[in-house]
Amino acid sequence: MSTAPDPQTRILSGMRPTGRLHLGHYHGVLKNWAELQYNYECFFFVADWHALTTDYEDPAGIEQNSIEMVIDWLAAGVNPGSATMFIQSQVEEHAELHLLLSMMTPLSWLERVPSFKDQQEKLREKDLATYGFLGYPLLQSADILIYRAAGVPVGEDQVAHVEITREIARRFNHIYGKGVGFEEKAEAAIAKMGKKDKKLYMQQRKRFLEQGEADALEIGRALVDSQQNISVGDKERLIGYLEDSGKIILPEPQALLTKASKMPGLDGQKMSKSYGNTIMLRDDADTVNKKLLTMQTDPARVRRDDPGDPEKCPVWDFHKIYSNEETQDWVEQGCKSAGIGCVDCKKPLVEAVLADLEPMQKRAAEFEQNPDAVRAIINEGNEAASEVARDTMDEVRKVMGLAYS
Ligand code: TRP
Ligand code: SF4
Repeated sequence: MSTAPDPQTRILSGMRPTGRLHLGHYHGVLKNWAELQYNYECFFFVADWHALTTDYEDPAGIEQNSIEMVIDWLAAGVNPGSATMFIQSQVEEHAELHLLLSMMTPLSWLERVPSFKDQQEKLREKDLATYGFLGYPLLQSADILIYRAAGVPVGEDQVAHVEITREIARRFNHIYGKGVGFEEKAEAAIAKMGKKDKKLYMQQRKRFLEQGEADALEIGRALVDSQQNISVGDKERLIGYLEDSGKIILPEPQALLTKASKMPGLDGQKMSKSYGNTIMLRDDADTVNKKLLTMQTDPARVRRDDPGDPEKCPVWDFHKIYSNEETQDWVEQGCKSAGIGCVDCKKPLVEAVLADLEPMQKRAAEFEQNPDAVRAIINEGNEAASEVARDTMDEVRKVMGLAYS
């Protein structure tokens, strides 16, 4: 996908409902979403069905976690006036597309998705030997394809899922793109062209299909475009017939790889709830203060007058995100020369993190006090998403012989 902003380009991404979010989510995902929403048509959703693929025995927290997560999206600046936020399970068409895609998805494609075996090995305490878990990436494909999204911002761990989505789309278009009676309809459309144009069209088609001459395709397309008395549907068919491709019903999306956040957790590992090393977006000032002041530093700096090495200290990674050059220079020199202590070093950081969190927490508090507003935003998002999903499903049903009209 070209990176030039285009408000017509649709972007979609989702998150499993993990509840309240932390700074890792903010720097890794939400800041990116908040930026994308002003340049593209954005859809962001809570993948609550995906939570059930690994936690079907424990559904109790899903709804609350979904709402809390959306509050944090809003707090971080995702704007309901610019982006559509919705909940997967509230747009049932995702399930219908998932089912229909499952008919034509080779088992082996799902079995070879890396997360299938990886997760089964990692999460041994969970029952992942289910049909739903095997279908996880296919459900994700349905999530993406139902919006005909051009771009999917995701982290490294999700790229394989976007890749299988592309394969599914290609297979779908190949099987159903020509639709029922495609050849007959194309021939009928050709018959509507004038005699001369018809001859020229057939010549270009032959030249392209037999000799692969690209200019033949161009001439043929221009010719179809210039036809006066031919419907849009027939034109699409004529172009499909020209290159023997049929119609693209589900476009292939691009993964927009989001660089991993450079901010580690409080212990230097990746920030993650399961490691207990997070700063939450809604942690109060005292908590943030305490967490940062007890945060791990360069283990070689045991005493105040031991010199340290910022490269071996997770605090330094925080400074790289939160501090200006002047402060960073002060940290580097002070640390290496033992001119400053770790508490001194952390103080400007505490200030900076709190200043960054303050407006978010203010927004979050407003939404906490007004749960109806949050529900209204989500309901509106569900509606807007459903509208798009329904359009896609109308077409999918048609080409799969399920239109019944
Ligand atoms: N699997 C994604 C994750 O765990 C969540 C997800 C579900 C998603 N459907 C999606 C992400 C569609 C992008 C697009 O993070
Ligand atoms: Fe880390 Fe700063 Fe202490 Fe150096 S002075 S070890 S960078 S906290």
